[in-house]
Amino acid sequence: MESLHHPEAKRTLRLALRRQRLALSKHEQRQAALRLCQQLKRLPEIQRAKRISLYLPVNGEIDPTLLLPWLRQRNVDVYLPVLRPLSDNSLWFVNYHATTPMVKNRFGILEPDTRFGAHRHNRLPAWALDTLIVPLVGFDAEANRMGMGGGFYDRSLAFMRRQGPAPALIGVAHACQRVESLPVEPWDVPLTAVVSDESIVRAGKKKS
Ligand SMILES: Nc1ncnc2c1ncn2[C@@H]1O[C@H](COP(=O)(O)OP(=O)(O)OP(=O)(O)O)[C@@H](O)[C@H]1O
Ligand SMILES: [Mg+2]
Repeated sequence: MESLHHPEAKRTLRLALRRQRLALSKHEQRQAALRLCQQLKRLPEIQRAKRISLYLPVNGEIDPTLLLPWLRQRNVDVYLPVLRPLSDNSLWFVNYHATTPMVKNRFGILEPDTRFGAHRHNRLPAWALDTLIVPLVGFDAEANRMGMGGGFYDRSLAFMRRQGPAPALIGVAHACQRVESLPVEPWDVPLTAVVSDESIVRAGKKKS
């Protein structure tokens, strides 16, 4: 389906999917986050991870932070993505605690404050994590991912195409972000699975 690859078609689809998740009520958001959390706790990729990244939700994204108390209990190190300064629009991952100083980045998204170098020793490249919980705008039956359109995760995960460490990549989303089929671009990095409040879709096979 060549037309789906057209930048205009991708933009239109992104907009529609973002509107859908923004239309969810506070109650629906909360229920979805609780269900997501239940599903995530069952995944081997989450259970075995000692270093895991998640994100603070914006724009109606499903909230993975309900997992935090459970992760703390298991002594898992938790990381948040941070825009790499002076770089190619890719991400670093910075250790996150309740007391971590936070600052808004240029997109208005809160991230650990690395400006004064205090967290220089707490930051890791994506390959050093065991599991990444990855936000997305759309996903399909084969766990293909459509992000916000900046290519940030794709750039940060480009190493996955080479030999070497390969963290598990778990996309998370609301069920309403699922579409029949998404266009896959050469630079799109495949996910291990996508978990929503209603299903677990593994790459390479269909399951719910
Ligand atoms: N590894 C890469 N190196 C350089 N540019 C890249 C790379 N990956 C993606 N890009 C660029 O990023 C742009 C956006 O990519 P894409 O539409 O796949 O974004 P996305 O997956 O929705 O965003 P994100 O990864 O931030 O969630 C593309 O036009 C592409 O040129
Ligand atoms: Mg992409």
